[in-house]
Amino acid sequence: MTLKALIFLCLGGIFFFTPTPTQAGVLEDNHCGSCHRLNAEDTNTNPAGPDLHYAGQKFQPQWLKQFLKKPAVIRPGGLTTDPSFLQGTPDNMSPHPSFSEEDTSKLVASLMNLKSVESNFEPVGTEPLSKGQRAKIKYQFERTFGCISCHQSLNLAGKVRGGVSGPSLVNSGNRLQAEWVNHWLQKPEVFISKSRMPRYKLDALTRDQLTQFLMTLKNENIR
Ligand code: HEC
Ligand code: HEC
Repeated sequence: MTLKALIFLCLGGIFFFTPTPTQAGVLEDNHCGSCHRLNAEDTNTNPAGPDLHYAGQKFQPQWLKQFLKKPAVIRPGGLTTDPSFLQGTPDNMSPHPSFSEEDTSKLVASLMNLKSVESNFEPVGTEPLSKGQRAKIKYQFERTFGCISCHQSLNLAGKVRGGVSGPSLVNSGNRLQAEWVNHWLQKPEVFISKSRMPRYKLDALTRDQLTQFLMTLKNENIR
């Protein structure tokens, strides 16, 4: 082997074996993977926490920051995969680990890089719902589809109301990405293999308006 070839091989080695400078490491360093699936190939079928391998497609970074600094309960009834689901105190009532400002920024950057599912999400309308449209979709959310029987939401007086078997939707407008919500309502199987949520046959307009309605739900509107 010539010296040139040898040098070439060595450089090739450096090229292939130097880890690319992703920030995924900070999630592993903080043991997030012990409770959350951080990649789609993870075979843990019963993790203690919800999937995060598509976190960059689901959450708003500002919300992630707040949550990791000062965690709040999102699933008051526990995780649907939890053996004690809806049977007394859910395991997840133990407080979520919290982090400093500096660590949080790194964790959030890393979470926003996790994008592991199809990304052909439809755009969601940006024209605000009229008063009439909002009243109609709110009625459908509560009565026609009964979403409120499983999800906490805000009533007309700005009070938190609703069931606890699904994640709280009270702060959806700060927490979730609109396009993600729309896709969840269209194809939940992209994100979860077996969901406890009924599958609704929603036409595109109803789906869009439901999404827009959820995006108006924010903690600051609680009265
Ligand atoms: C001991 C287990 C445990 C560890 C460790 C843990 N989590 Fe969690 N995490 C949970 C549980 C349980 C929930 C659900 C809380 C709820 O719904 O109220 C959760 C919720 C979350 C959520 C909100 C997800 C959603 O869909 O609402 C994010 C984001 C999150 N964790 C990020 C992290 C990060 C980042 C780390 C590592 C720095 C981490 N978690 C470490 C158990 C854990
Ligand atoms: C029978 C209970 C039930 C009903 C009714 C229901 N859901 Fe759900 N929903 C769930 C559960 C449980 C989850 C969490 C995923 C899982 O574990 O299956 C969920 C997840 C969601 C999520 C994702 C939230 C997150 O943070 O991951 C949204 C958005 C949502 N539902 C909206 C709706 C809307 C809109 C309706 C009415 C059209 C509705 N749900 C009706 C139980 C329900």
